[in-house]
Amino acid sequence: MSAEERRKTSPQPGRAVIIAIDGPAGAGKSTLARHLARHFGLLNLETGAMYRAFALKALRAGLPLDESTGLEQLASETSIRLESGDEENRVLLDGEDVTGLIRNPTVTEAASRVSVFPAVRAWMVGLQQQQAARGGVVMEGRDIGTVVFPNAEVKIFLDAAPEVRGQRRYEQLGQTGIAQPPPPEKIVRDLRARDERDRNRADSPLKPAPDAVILDSTHMTLEQALAAAEKIVAGKLGQPGTRS
Ligand code: DC
Repeated sequence: MSAEERRKTSPQPGRAVIIAIDGPAGAGKSTLARHLARHFGLLNLETGAMYRAFALKALRAGLPLDESTGLEQLASETSIRLESGDEENRVLLDGEDVTGLIRNPTVTEAASRVSVFPAVRAWMVGLQQQQAARGGVVMEGRDIGTVVFPNAEVKIFLDAAPEVRGQRRYEQLGQTGIAQPPPPEKIVRDLRARDERDRNRADSPLKPAPDAVILDSTHMTLEQALAAAEKIVAGKLGQPGTRS
C-alpha cells in the first residue's frame, strides 16, 4: 500500500496530526520518521532534503554560499517539492528528480551553509508549511517543533552522542556498498562541524522545543529507539501503546 493510501485508511482519517522530529545530523531521524509514518499511517516529509536540493541548485549556479542576496534571488526562482515514497522522499527541484544527487558530502556541507540565511529559511518554512497544510504528516528536520509547526501534536528531539552517530553513519555507508567510506573519525569530525553550525546559527538554531520529548538513543538499539518513539506518539495521540 502506498503512503497516501495508508494515510487515507489511517485509524483516524482526516485528523490533522503533525509529528515533528528534530535533532542533529546522524541521530537517525529519517529512519525514525519513516517508521512512525508507516506505523501511524502518515506522510513522511524530510525537510533536510529540501535544503539539500536548494544547495544543489546554488552549487550548479556557482553562487557564493556565504552571501544572502544571490541565494535569496535564487530562492525566488526555485520550486522544491517532496513526494512521499515508501523508502525515502522523492525530491523535485524545478520538476527535476534530484533524489539521487543530494546525499554526497559537497551538497551536505552546502546545505548546512545555505540554511543559515534568514531569507532562505523563511522561504523554506513557507514551502514546508504548504506541503503539510493538510496535516497527517511526520516532518523531520532541525526547526520543525520550534518554528515550522510550533503547535505540532507530538514533538520528539532525537539525539545521540557524536561518536555513536558517527559510528552508525559509518556502518550505514558500508551497507550502501560505497567503495571507500571515510574513516569513522572523519565522519565524527564532519558531524561535529555541521552540528556546530546548525546549533549556533542566529536564525532557528537546532534546539529542542520546550515541549519536545527528548529521546537520547546513545545506549539504545534501533529497535529500542523505534519502540520508545512509538510509545511517545501513542501516548500523545491518546492511542493504546503498541509495543511494550
Ligand atoms: O537533515 P539533513 O542532514 O538532510 O539536513 C541537511 C542540512 O539542512 C542540515 O545540515 C541543516 C539544514 N536543515 C535545516 O537547517 N533545517 C531543517 N529543518 C532541515 C535541515
